[in-house]
Amino acid sequence: MRVLVTGGAGFIGSHIVDQLVEAGHQPFVVDDLSSGDKANVRPEAPIHKVDIRDTDGLKRAFDEIKPEAVCHQAAQLSVSRSVREPVFDAQVNVLGLLGVFENAVRVGAKRIVFASSGGVLYGDVQAPAREDHPAAPISPYGVTKLAGEGYLRFMAREFGISGVALRYSNVYGPRQSPHGEAGVVAIFCKKMLAGEAATINGDGRYIRDYVFGPDVARANVAAITGEFPEPFSAFNIGTGRPTDVNQLADKIRTLVIDRLRKTGRTAEVPAPVHGPARAGDLRSNLVDASAAQTAMGWKPTADVSEGLARTVAWFDEQGR
Ligand SMILES: NC(=O)c1ccc[n+]([C@@H]2O[C@H](COP(=O)([O-])OP(=O)(O)OC[C@H]3O[C@@H](n4cnc5c(N)ncnc54)[C@H](O)[C@@H]3O)[C@@H](O)[C@H]2O)c1
Repeated sequence: MRVLVTGGAGFIGSHIVDQLVEAGHQPFVVDDLSSGDKANVRPEAPIHKVDIRDTDGLKRAFDEIKPEAVCHQAAQLSVSRSVREPVFDAQVNVLGLLGVFENAVRVGAKRIVFASSGGVLYGDVQAPAREDHPAAPISPYGVTKLAGEGYLRFMAREFGISGVALRYSNVYGPRQSPHGEAGVVAIFCKKMLAGEAATINGDGRYIRDYVFGPDVARANVAAITGEFPEPFSAFNIGTGRPTDVNQLADKIRTLVIDRLRKTGRTAEVPAPVHGPARAGDLRSNLVDASAAQTAMGWKPTADVSEGLARTVAWFDEQGR
């Protein structure tokens, strides 16, 4: 199948490209390379360097690619930038998204898969939230993810294209940028591998549901190729398992020390320090992904220890 992956040069998108190639599909990447990197993309997937806000460029890319399915990952994904610059956030995450969806319909694609977010839709939840948990986003970024789902539901009902929204929990893994605000695993790996103390915001008792990037990519491939009875479906993608930031830092530090020792390097990694709390950080956020298992046979394969070990190894190889 010819699959256009927007944001395919980014962290999650590039894992989707990998798995599409491995499953015998033909992926094409549309990405402005603002945070993505060509080096993430395997040579089988042609890259069209286009900003999704560029209506002419986007139209040309769709005309050339003629995708049968579209997997929409490209986004402005900084919550704090969305608060500072809500118009820019909406230009990418609403108008850019609408351009992608409209072109998908125009060229006759049969399926759109959209990267949504359980974190920003459900807010503070103590137990894993199911898809029917009320969505009440508190940031412009969250508002645009909810709007994206609404537009996809509309497109599916109105134009007969099939839409699937995947509501990720906290995704981590190889290729995640350590420069964004969301990539705490990437940030901790980089710091600790450099022998520096990681900084934990506030008391670190912030519970999250960490899901491994390649597992999220597998969910996307299942959503691109699966059969769904409704024109529009939304599925949570996460593990439902709680890990707080203190536990996360401990696990990464143990893995880093172990790796440094095994490869004959000095094993001094200072314990993390605590900095100021970040305003608005949720205390607890977890998703229940049992609907994804029922509808498309998806469940996470990597537990957090295995996923973190693979992530530490990847960051170490990059830095050497
Ligand atoms: N990482 C997470 O924990 C997480 C959680 C929930 C949802 N998501 C969603 O998953 C998707 C992928 O996120 P990621 O973590 O891989 O981030 P990423 O920054 O690694 O990937 C985003 C990609 O989109 C590209 N892009 C950004 N703006 C663009 C534009 N205007 N035009 C074309 N390309 C553009 C970037 O260059 C990058 O390659 C996003 O939609 C994000 O909102 C991520």
